[in-house]
Amino acid sequence: MSDPLKAPRGTRDILPPLSWEWQEVTRRALDSFARAGYAPIDTPLFEHTEIFVRGVGEANEVVNKEMYTFTDKGERSLTLRPEMTAPVVRAVLENRLDKGPLPVKLAYAGPMFRQERPQKGRYRQFGQVGIEAIGSANPMVDAETVALGADFLSACGISWTLLLNSIGHLGGNCRLGYLDLLIEFLKARRDELAPADRDRVDTNPLRTFDSKEAATVDVMTEAPVISDHLCDECREHFEAVKGYLDDLSVTYTLHPQLVRGLDYYTHTAFEFTSDALGAQSTVLGGGRYDGLSEALGGGPLPGIGFASGIDRVLLAGNVGDGGGPAVTAYVVARGQRARREALRLAFELRRAGIGADLDLLGRGMKGQMKDADRSGARWAVILEDEALDTEATTLRDLAAGEQTTVKLHEIAERVCR
Ligand code: HAM
Repeated sequence: MSDPLKAPRGTRDILPPLSWEWQEVTRRALDSFARAGYAPIDTPLFEHTEIFVRGVGEANEVVNKEMYTFTDKGERSLTLRPEMTAPVVRAVLENRLDKGPLPVKLAYAGPMFRQERPQKGRYRQFGQVGIEAIGSANPMVDAETVALGADFLSACGISWTLLLNSIGHLGGNCRLGYLDLLIEFLKARRDELAPADRDRVDTNPLRTFDSKEAATVDVMTEAPVISDHLCDECREHFEAVKGYLDDLSVTYTLHPQLVRGLDYYTHTAFEFTSDALGAQSTVLGGGRYDGLSEALGGGPLPGIGFASGIDRVLLAGNVGDGGGPAVTAYVVARGQRARREALRLAFELRRAGIGADLDLLGRGMKGQMKDADRSGARWAVILEDEALDTEATTLRDLAAGEQTTVKLHEIAERVCR
């Protein structure tokens, strides 16, 4: 029996003070992406299941094991989004943004849903911030994307390692040719693979590189790698990306086994890891997905992007609360008239853009002063019935412990100085 007073397994409440940090990560991400020309996008939390089956891949674990899929009252199969790239490409195609100026640069922040086994840094509902640049196959976009990821993580106080690879394109002289070699290798070694991974040889051979099973990991160290079998064009593309990253002083480690967990990737694939995290060490991941639009039923439309897990950024980084509660003045009242005036004054200050709070429990003076300290306000404005006739109030500097008498109508100007 589930306990109705407990959040479902793998989910959690983001409470203050963590919620301030959460908000700060989101703000920092969207601000820095906006400075690079990425406009915010929001898409529905659920999509037609087909979007993910076609986009992420039918034989992909996220799709066949981890999706929250349900049938609605109209007998439609819908799925809580496990990721944002397929929905963003769907939105671009549906709204014909690809017919406007390219690349379409979009940024997002929001919850994703995957029914994974919960552990530190891995939740069933988790937050992502990310970007997608759609409509350019130029390797400069790859470098821009990777470098924006690097700068975002650095701005969050994370010391990261960037793992970089190219997984080529779906051509016979490139990834498809390589897959034949890989399948041949895996078939010859099938008995040595962990039993759980043997089916992948037929369903999704590339995913054997993602296995955490010791036996499989051992075998895969000897497997042929895609980076040795790229076509000339893909190799040149990758060389250009690396060159631009060098120009931007973004250091990377080439990782020929990196294939990423979603099936839409082509060309550049990358992950940022942090030692501050445990087993779930990937704090940001992304890559190019030049075939995704066509897989969804659109025309050819190259794209690249990344997403970073907010939960993991908070675990690995040092973001701060962005100032936390934004209360500048706390209005304290003694007497009935003063209490009424306190509510009016709090709103006068708020409407003037000044953070203000007041007692809403009918506390005595001592309790109100204590609450003023708790609120983080710099000032306490003390109103008393007797003094109101002359508009006199006491303005107390809570940090310095000094106070002066100030006219009621001068408060807003005094506290925002
Ligand atoms: P992903 O690697 O599946 O890629 O997820 C990106 C990031 O989301 C991960 O590196 C991790 O930080 C976070 N994340 C994933 N699953 C969980 C979880 N269960 N709990 C907590 N955090 C998690 C994508 O989602 C792609 N859509 C990224 C992308 C954008 N590729 C191109 N454009």
